[in-house]
Amino acid sequence: MDPSRISLRPYNLSDVDDFLLWASDDRVTRYLRWDTITSREEALAYLEMVAIPHPWRRSICLDDRSIGYISIKPESGDDRCRAHIGYAVAAEYWGHGMATLALKMAVSKVFDEIPDLVRLHALVELENKASQRVLEKVGFVKEGLLRKYGFCKGEIRDMFVYSFLSTDKLL
Ligand SMILES: CC(C)(COP(=O)(O)OP(=O)(O)OC[C@H]1O[C@@H](n2cnc3c(N)ncnc32)[C@H](O)[C@@H]1OP(=O)(O)O)[C@@H](O)C(=O)NCCC(=O)NCCS
Repeated sequence: MDPSRISLRPYNLSDVDDFLLWASDDRVTRYLRWDTITSREEALAYLEMVAIPHPWRRSICLDDRSIGYISIKPESGDDRCRAHIGYAVAAEYWGHGMATLALKMAVSKVFDEIPDLVRLHALVELENKASQRVLEKVGFVKEGLLRKYGFCKGEIRDMFVYSFLSTDKLL
């Protein structure tokens, strides 16, 4: 895949059909905190109420068409130094380095774009090996296992926590 075909940009409502293609796929949403989107109306409402107003959510685009997302959500107050990162890529593009490239693009910009941000962290289910590998390829550090940390798809799960600091180097 030619990396120049990949870009990150904010969502528009006109992304709805491309967004629905992968947001309606249970394989993609399996490890995400949001449920599979089942209709065009739901996809439009999600873009309008969640994706577009989000403080830092970008569409991962291939030739400017949405094939995934990255969101970086900063905490507030005394926790504003840290932000949670989440991401997904349409299943038909898995294994082509898309997520790794997109994360590197996001990480290289976000510390300049969000004042006070020093730490990004990701929470990953134990069996989500592809996501763990992506984080390792980007340069995130595996800090440990958080036991029974949070709900995912109705079940309380153990999760690995990975972090990347503003002073860390991308691989
Ligand atoms: C995780 C996800 C974003 C990865 O996207 P991607 O574009 O395929 O990622 P990349 O191609 O950049 O890298 C994937 C790596 O995982 C590896 N991998 C994939 N499945 C694997 C498995 N079952 N065991 C071990 N490694 C695996 C690939 O071989 C590749 O590593 P390599 O380059 O060393 O060969 C994608 O699978 C996805 O959208 N999953 C559903 C949503 C999700 O889990 N999001 C993360 C929540 S924490």
